[in-house]
Amino acid sequence: MQRRSLVVVTNRLPFDESVAPEGAFDWQHSSGVLVSPRHAHLREAPVTWVGWSGHAGPPPELPDTRGLRVRAVPLSEEEIRYHYEGYANATLWPLYHDAVEHPTHHRRWWEAYQRVNRRFAARTAEVAAPGAVVWIQDYHLQLVPALLRELRPDLTVGFFLHIPFPPPELFMRLPRRAEILHGLLGADLVGFQRERSARNFRLAIADACGIEAGQGPVRVDGRQVRTGVFPVSVDTPAVAALAEAPEVRARAAQIREDLGRPRTVLLSVDRMDYTKGIEHRLKAYRELVADDVLTAPDTVFVQVTVPSRERVDHYERLRERVEREVGRINGEYGRVGAARVHYLSRPLDRVEVAALYRAADVLLVTPLRDGMNLVAKEFVAARTDGGGALLLSEFAGAAAELCDAYLVNPHDTAGMKRTLLAAVGADAAENRRRMAAMRAQVTGHDLHAWAELFLEALVPPAADLAAPRGA
Ligand code: F6P
Repeated sequence: MQRRSLVVVTNRLPFDESVAPEGAFDWQHSSGVLVSPRHAHLREAPVTWVGWSGHAGPPPELPDTRGLRVRAVPLSEEEIRYHYEGYANATLWPLYHDAVEHPTHHRRWWEAYQRVNRRFAARTAEVAAPGAVVWIQDYHLQLVPALLRELRPDLTVGFFLHIPFPPPELFMRLPRRAEILHGLLGADLVGFQRERSARNFRLAIADACGIEAGQGPVRVDGRQVRTGVFPVSVDTPAVAALAEAPEVRARAAQIREDLGRPRTVLLSVDRMDYTKGIEHRLKAYRELVADDVLTAPDTVFVQVTVPSRERVDHYERLRERVEREVGRINGEYGRVGAARVHYLSRPLDRVEVAALYRAADVLLVTPLRDGMNLVAKEFVAARTDGGGALLLSEFAGAAAELCDAYLVNPHDTAGMKRTLLAAVGADAAENRRRMAAMRAQVTGHDLHAWAELFLEALVPPAADLAAPRGA
């Protein structure tokens, strides 16, 4: 069968542009399964990736690599401020994450959001082959499906939202709610991480657009728009191979040595984001330390936070609060040579992260709301030794699949303390059983399977009318 050519559209290109000009960037290093030669759709069809380089100014010229063409979309400094930092990350991001921080609304941000979405649509229309499949990703680009359909009705358009779609009570606060929904309804298939997001989307369509949206496809302008649930995952074989590398094993042993050979290593790895529940977790840990239940030097906590969206107010203030709390815990309960929190606030390379995963006894992932949380899945994939335990917020999308984690409500400090002690104190066989069940899950449902499932469900509209698939 002739494969359709594919265009993937993401706000940010999937590599670090600083290494790109020499042509030395490593596609395997990117988070995109879509560049993997294992992906059936890509073995037989050309792929184009459209996205922003991460910097202001003219787009870099990027060489084609292994059948992949990259086409960058330029953003000006003002568009980065208003589209990326403003509308995407200070309006939509907090609103879609249960408004745990207050969403800000500015008309000039909305104008920039429309302008940038139009530019992405135009660039995609320019590079897509006739009849191509276009897969648009995430909340930065919700207007692109409809804009693209206007420019290129011959394309089959899919959209996947990596973050939660909020309940209608929250979504209806958005001044331009109907425009966003009409943008998404330009797709043939709109995918979500969890069923509740798909349900919220259908409810919002009914409330904001007055379009009937029951269980089946939504009918819009004589077309059918389907919704579906496709939980994203990690590249399990690649993560497992990395974790098995001698370099990673040696580094993991060295980390435990450097930490003073504690009995228990607790670990968290997060982007510095207020959705991740970093403060809630630190509070529970501080109380356990104060109660003298987790004693030094038996137990150490390593908190890695990767700086993110640093010019957005919410993020700047969060960093100050987190650093104050870490300082407080170490100041009050640490001693010379025995910090209670080992705090690393910078990006770490993949070897170091994999080594930390392997060195940890318990990984704590405690978001207040998270579309999926791939750190949790990566940890499970990395523990090829069967060791470790996962403490996971029930508000992470991953909790729907990683049912054998120690599940917690991060708002319940007492419950979190109790569950953390249960994870630390459980016998090794129990923790191995839990990890084995979760490893089976991430092995059966990895990033490759995710992309495959979505693209298989993304059938052209004509076939759709003849034989509707999905919900
Ligand atoms: O979906 C959330 C997401 O956009 C991820 O794709 C990404 O890894 C993360 O947030 C951070 O993205 P950025 O640094 O582009 O804001």
